[in-house]
Amino acid sequence: MQEQTDTVTTTTTTPQYTLRQATDDEFKQNTFDSYPQWGKPLTPEQYWGREVVSKAVVTNHRPWVLLYDGKTVSSCETYGENSAYCYIDDDQFTMHRGRSESVASVFVSEKYRGKGYASIMMNMLREQCQREGAIFVDLYSDINPQFYAKCGWTEYSRQSVIIDLSQYPATATATATDRTDITMIDSSNYVPIVHMEIEKTTLVFKERWQHFRQQLNQQQHPDNNAADGIPTHLFGKLLTPERVAWHMSQVQLYSQSLQIQPVPTCFGVKINATDSSMFWFQDFRDRELYIFHLTAANKEDFKTMIDLAVAEARKYGFNEVKFWYNDSDKIKPEYLEHIGQKIVIRDGSVPMAVDWIPPNAPSISGKGMFINIEKFVWV
Ligand SMILES: CC(C)(COP(=O)(O)OP(=O)(O)OC[C@H]1O[C@@H](n2cnc3c(N)ncnc32)[C@H](O)[C@@H]1OP(=O)(O)O)[C@@H](O)C(=O)NCCC(=O)NCCS
Repeated sequence: MQEQTDTVTTTTTTPQYTLRQATDDEFKQNTFDSYPQWGKPLTPEQYWGREVVSKAVVTNHRPWVLLYDGKTVSSCETYGENSAYCYIDDDQFTMHRGRSESVASVFVSEKYRGKGYASIMMNMLREQCQREGAIFVDLYSDINPQFYAKCGWTEYSRQSVIIDLSQYPATATATATDRTDITMIDSSNYVPIVHMEIEKTTLVFKERWQHFRQQLNQQQHPDNNAADGIPTHLFGKLLTPERVAWHMSQVQLYSQSLQIQPVPTCFGVKINATDSSMFWFQDFRDRELYIFHLTAANKEDFKTMIDLAVAEARKYGFNEVKFWYNDSDKIKPEYLEHIGQKIVIRDGSVPMAVDWIPPNAPSISGKGMFINIEKFVWV
């Protein structure tokens, strides 16, 4: 159900600065320039090969360059997705769709750093996306989020769960592996499972909407003088078949390039009776298993799926299984207690977004709430 959107070639110009889409040659140059930052453990050639594969799979990919007096001083990439939002003050829950953009690979060569180029590029890119009609732009900051906050982005939850496998029981995984009422997710069966997940995400939006709508009703009561802390709208991304295919292709490319055996073929699990599901990817760069999408109908399903993720991680000698935790409508606190895990605040990958969801456009309102924030990988 991915909405088809044309790639737009547009240019933003100020007296000295131009932001425009990079040519193929510029994109290749940017990739080699940023290799020391993100490329290892691949070789530079493998890293470029990975970019070629990656960009063929990811949706609406656009590389960008910022020119200062005609010279390239900064670069980044965006990709467009069909995302969702709803208004809290609607009398009935309605899920709307629109295009969002995600920013990745924000980069300035060392010789040009500290001159304000990245800030200028991010401000121009934000204006560009707003003009094109994006409903929001998100990114995942690995630097001090203040940098992006100054350019208009708002920081959201950075809660994670990190399972240390040296502390996780070995026997539990054997029990889960024996189960016959589960479907392991692979390249042949993931598409219908993803479509089911989109329906489930709609329910996550609805539960959040009901929660805030109820608060709004109470606040509007004449006897109430509660503080105005209720978001005007909720927005977020949806799992798509393209995103899952992208993860699969990246994992397989890394394992082949690094000669890791067996090449992974399993990317998650579904519990047949309840439709609980989990999608993961094997991160061979940081040697951990990351769960990027997770919905569980009850704590037993949750534990079964975690046990299977642990088994997959142990297959590759990884030390940790991780996932982001930001929606209690999807994973309830008692599920974590059931597997003896706690929420931690992670250092990197800080979710940040700026939105222009009507009627707040064209101002940067900061009153929307980014929900359903799922691990996004750009290794
Ligand atoms: C991060 C990076 C893009 C910044 O580029 P830049 O052109 O030097 O940034 P600017 O000159 O626009 O810096 C603007 C502000 O950000 C701050 N800043 C720069 N690098 C920063 C960093 N790594 N962490 C936090 N703040 C940073 C600057 O101190 C400056 O602050 P000020 O406005 O209070 O003076 C550049 O250092 C880089 O390419 N780093 C390697 C790749 C990377 O980490 N990218 C970000 C991935 S999320």
